[in-house]
Amino acid sequence: MMKIKMTVLLICFFVIGLISWQQPDLKASIERGQKVYETYCLGCHQSDGSGVPRLNPPLSKTTYVTGDKKKLITVVLAGLDTEIEINGEVYNNVMAPHDFLKDQEIADVLTYVRNSFGNKAAAITPADVKNVRASLTKK
Ligand code: HEC
Repeated sequence: MMKIKMTVLLICFFVIGLISWQQPDLKASIERGQKVYETYCLGCHQSDGSGVPRLNPPLSKTTYVTGDKKKLITVVLAGLDTEIEINGEVYNNVMAPHDFLKDQEIADVLTYVRNSFGNKAAAITPADVKNVRASLTKK
């Protein structure tokens, strides 16, 4: 009986340790991402992610931002120039590719966006970006 309790306790400590070890990472990524955002995205998508009506779509609660990671990473790497409907509004404008940004910078900026402007979605890692970048250059 004692042994089981000890095991459960140890597992609890392990899980809590793991969570608190990952949180500072997430916070640091979001902080770095905000700087990337202010440099490369703010001009079009605005500081609160609200965008510019009919010109630049918002980044709050859109299917791109909170949805599939691969699709979201592809927008930043390859840009976007097709007609899209975002939150009920049609956009037919051009976003240039941002493939000059490092994997870490793209991971940080998207993690920032996915945890700002009312969004709550899982972080993006440099490995995620690396994979998408590799799949895009193969074509
Ligand atoms: C020159 C202006 C401009 C810059 C700079 C820019 N975007 Fe965009 N972005 C756009 C436009 C315009 C679209 C929509 C393109 C279309 O109509 O097909 C778009 C679309 C998007 C979308 C998909 C649609 C949505 O609203 O969910 C995401 C996500 C996005 N941009 C993120 C970013 C991020 C992150 C950065 C910075 C690394 C960035 N953009 C920089 C103009 C810009």
